[in-house]
Amino acid sequence: MNALPTSPAYSAFLAGAWTQTGRTFEVHSPAMGETIAIVADCGLDEARRAAVAAHAAFLQWRARTPWDRAPILQRWGALILQHEVRLAHGIAREMGKPVTEAKGEIRYSAALAGDFAEEAKRVFGELVPSQFADKRLLVTKRPVGPVLAITPWNFPALMIMRKAAAALAAGCTVIVKPAEQSPLTALELAQLWEEAGGPPGTLQVLPTSDPAPLAAALLDDVTVRKLTFTGSTEVGILLNRHAAATLKHVSLELGGHAPYLVFGDADVAQAARDVAASKFRNAGQTCICTNRVYVQRGIADAFEAELARVTAALRVGDPLQDVTQIGPLVDAAGLRKVEAHVADALAHGAHVLTGGRALGGLFYEPTVLSGVTDDMLIMREETFGPVAPVLRFDDEAEAIARANDTPFGLAAYVWTRDVGRVFRVSEALEYGIIGVNDPIPSTAQAPFGGTKASGLGREQGKWGLEAYLETKFTSVRLA
Ligand code: SIN
Repeated sequence: MNALPTSPAYSAFLAGAWTQTGRTFEVHSPAMGETIAIVADCGLDEARRAAVAAHAAFLQWRARTPWDRAPILQRWGALILQHEVRLAHGIAREMGKPVTEAKGEIRYSAALAGDFAEEAKRVFGELVPSQFADKRLLVTKRPVGPVLAITPWNFPALMIMRKAAAALAAGCTVIVKPAEQSPLTALELAQLWEEAGGPPGTLQVLPTSDPAPLAAALLDDVTVRKLTFTGSTEVGILLNRHAAATLKHVSLELGGHAPYLVFGDADVAQAARDVAASKFRNAGQTCICTNRVYVQRGIADAFEAELARVTAALRVGDPLQDVTQIGPLVDAAGLRKVEAHVADALAHGAHVLTGGRALGGLFYEPTVLSGVTDDMLIMREETFGPVAPVLRFDDEAEAIARANDTPFGLAAYVWTRDVGRVFRVSEALEYGIIGVNDPIPSTAQAPFGGTKASGLGREQGKWGLEAYLETKFTSVRLA
């Protein structure tokens, strides 16, 4: 494979060409703090050129059949897998995810390319019956057009593939604006797309240190027909408002505040391991991470002790080491938020069962808090860090009501062995994703997305492909 163009800085990928912009910004490793790359900084000029290229490429790409597009996506997935170790190390370096976890992210990302290549072959039309003998009413699906994908740093590969693989399979073209913290993985994916035979302009990557004006230029552009965004609810609302002026299609995957309900019939040891698995993935920097644990009073002491034991055993350290389970927070703002949530909880009567300290640099000890109450800051805001607040409940109705008492609705989890409760509780929870005795429900072929303030639309599977298609009606009168 050709080396990613890095001289004098990593280039942007614009209109099929590796492009310097005359401006640069630095990418830092959150684990060590050092500068790991200098990257071309894109602005308004690059945004305009990207929109023109995306539209020109769209006119060609949409005309190709799914059978023609599929082998390119399949090759892309195969190349991503072939470079699993190198890409995972890149993720560990640029945003601090432990490399073992990052390898899982790469395998998931590769699977999406293959899944969408196949799914696009099953986009069926319909023939609607007509009251007129000489008319045929055809309903077909068409790609929506060029897409702007604004992606976060917490899954630098997966978040791009969820959007770009679906859009490209559907016949759309894509402009990716990656997070400032993690542009390198995005550029690596673009290079593999090029190597897989992706035509110029179909996928472009515009790194920038100043996202707002670049995003605004692309949102103002009428040729860009869809916005897809993963990030905070506040930013999602602003982008949605902006996109409305040109009536773009919009998909939003926004913040969460996932409850984990552990009922009295749970296997306490397994439930503690599962809560830890959900809570401490990516050092708690996952949209569907558990944010609050509700445990039924009868088993609460035993459960808390076990969760504290499992949590204290997690290995914190260099994300590039295979044995590391918890890396650093992504940046100083992330660390400050974790510290503020813990300080507020302690000031209002919670106590630490394990952890509770910053470890230097951007590292924070995996933490379990007991005696948490619903009015604390940690219960209202998404912590996005390695802190598990534990609360107690008495019965099923109370657990459901408290779990639903939030503006968010992305993911919720339940631990129970009672089949009736499985259905009662999972049906009552107002969330887009439910894990029943399953702390990691996310998988390439299943829908991903939330209700309420957690977003609009679903990614992945046939639902994720549908998001890049619109319906066209053709009435034919037989001559
Ligand atoms: C996310 O939470 O944003 C992605 C995590 C996953 O799909 O498992």
